[in-house]
Amino acid sequence: MPVITCVEDLRKLAQRRVPRMFYDYADSGSWTESTYRANESDFARIRLRQRVAIDVSERNLGSTLIGEAVSMPVALAPTGLTGMQHADGEILAARAAERFGVPFTLSTMSICSIEDVAAHTTRPFWFQLYVMRDRDFIERLIDRAKAARCSALMLTLDLQILGQRHKDLKNGLSAPPKPTLSNLINIATKPRWAMGMLGTKRRQFGNIVGHVKGVEDMGSLSAWTSRQFDPRLSWADVEWIKRRWGGKLILKGIMDPEDAMRAADSGADALIVSNHGGRQLDGAPSSIAAVPAIVDAVGKRIEVWMDGGIRSGQDVFKALALGAKGALIGRAFLYGLGAQGEQGVQRCLELIRNELDLTMAFCGLTAVDQIDKAALFDPGSSA
Ligand code: GLV
Repeated sequence: MPVITCVEDLRKLAQRRVPRMFYDYADSGSWTESTYRANESDFARIRLRQRVAIDVSERNLGSTLIGEAVSMPVALAPTGLTGMQHADGEILAARAAERFGVPFTLSTMSICSIEDVAAHTTRPFWFQLYVMRDRDFIERLIDRAKAARCSALMLTLDLQILGQRHKDLKNGLSAPPKPTLSNLINIATKPRWAMGMLGTKRRQFGNIVGHVKGVEDMGSLSAWTSRQFDPRLSWADVEWIKRRWGGKLILKGIMDPEDAMRAADSGADALIVSNHGGRQLDGAPSSIAAVPAIVDAVGKRIEVWMDGGIRSGQDVFKALALGAKGALIGRAFLYGLGAQGEQGVQRCLELIRNELDLTMAFCGLTAVDQIDKAALFDPGSSA
């Protein structure tokens, strides 16, 4: 067993253990992947201000996200097909998050259903919604999330149409995978994954199959999803969904201050600066580059969080320093899940917590709410 000391170790292990089509699905961006790469590389460029001789013996990472207490200001992002990185993946990740004291967000495009995750957890989780043309289905999904006592709805606004990811097309991505020769050969090299999958019934889109007429199997499902994402999505739909849901609302996929102002006007509780992990508009800036202007525009009216490129607690620290109140991790926890199941997600969270904790100490800070712009190295400053 390799010694795991960073998220990159989990990524390498996941790459060995997860069938190529699902590993590639998680670990790729759209078109040239320039935005996907910038999400990480822009974090690497940010420099921190080293401080010394400040008592940092007592440190506190606790915070709140939309009023919910969290053990650190990090949440698990909604990621499609999580239950294909590892059998029962959504349930395992939700349990790890619950134990750790951070929120888990279930994707509309999950393998385990809302009801299934609720039955296997004890604390409320968040539910992510895609707006689809079939508005009856959306209403039913919202009602199901309410019945499962989800404590927030996260509405994704940046997937009116699906970005093109070359690898998914080349791999013929589907859930479950089609029994082609190349898939069978690849799966034969992933015995842990295959054993897990043989031991579970959860192998299709659990929120959809059986809940939409005419979607009984994979073939009809893929046709349905590509038809269903709604390119007409508007702010009027956001209002309608907010009314229908009636609880805490988080808007995800905001990259522009003008859109951020609309999001704040809508009365949502939080917005997430996100380019969908570089999976939608290739050529958009990195999420972290978009954070400061959005915080300036609306940071006093609505909680501003971000996702995209977070691979360490140092990245979380940098996001907070630039004004975000919280950060979401997607790929980082998927790598943990693919590498080691529930334990791998827990390991990922521990790594991030420890890195955040040590970074705070090196910067002379003892609580996450002290992290602000003053923690960034400013080469022009003589202070
Ligand atoms: C959405 O679910 C995606 O694949 O990015």
